[in-house]
Amino acid sequence: MKIAAFRRAHFNAAHRLFRADWSDEKNREIFGPCSNPFYHGHNYEVEVKVVGEIDPETGFVIDLSLLKRYIKEEVEDYLDHKNLNEQIPEFKDLNPTAEHICILIWNRLKPRLDERYELTVRLWETERNYVEYPA
Ligand code: NI
Repeated sequence: MKIAAFRRAHFNAAHRLFRADWSDEKNREIFGPCSNPFYHGHNYEVEVKVVGEIDPETGFVIDLSLLKRYIKEEVEDYLDHKNLNEQIPEFKDLNPTAEHICILIWNRLKPRLDERYELTVRLWETERNYVEYPA
């Protein structure tokens, strides 16, 4: 019988969404305030969902203190208080949208987990806007 365990985390980061091959006007039109050339911050909320069988020895699906450590090392230590465009190599030539950040988080957490787990990551960029990967 499978069950899901969740852990939430938080980080703050700055970003700018833009395409260098578009005019300032088009960037403003498509990306709105997120295209601000001077950057701006978001308070990102992350929810990590791990699905698997309950370990008969412990009664846990996953040790949440381990999951907490993986999230700290792979998400918070890597992204918190960073300028995503300037300091995160994956976003050197890729817009740090919620979609791309969510997939980046999934890609960093997946190798830390045993293969038997299914991993889903949700990322809130604002209280009302969030994405989930995989869909
Ligand atoms: Ni933004």
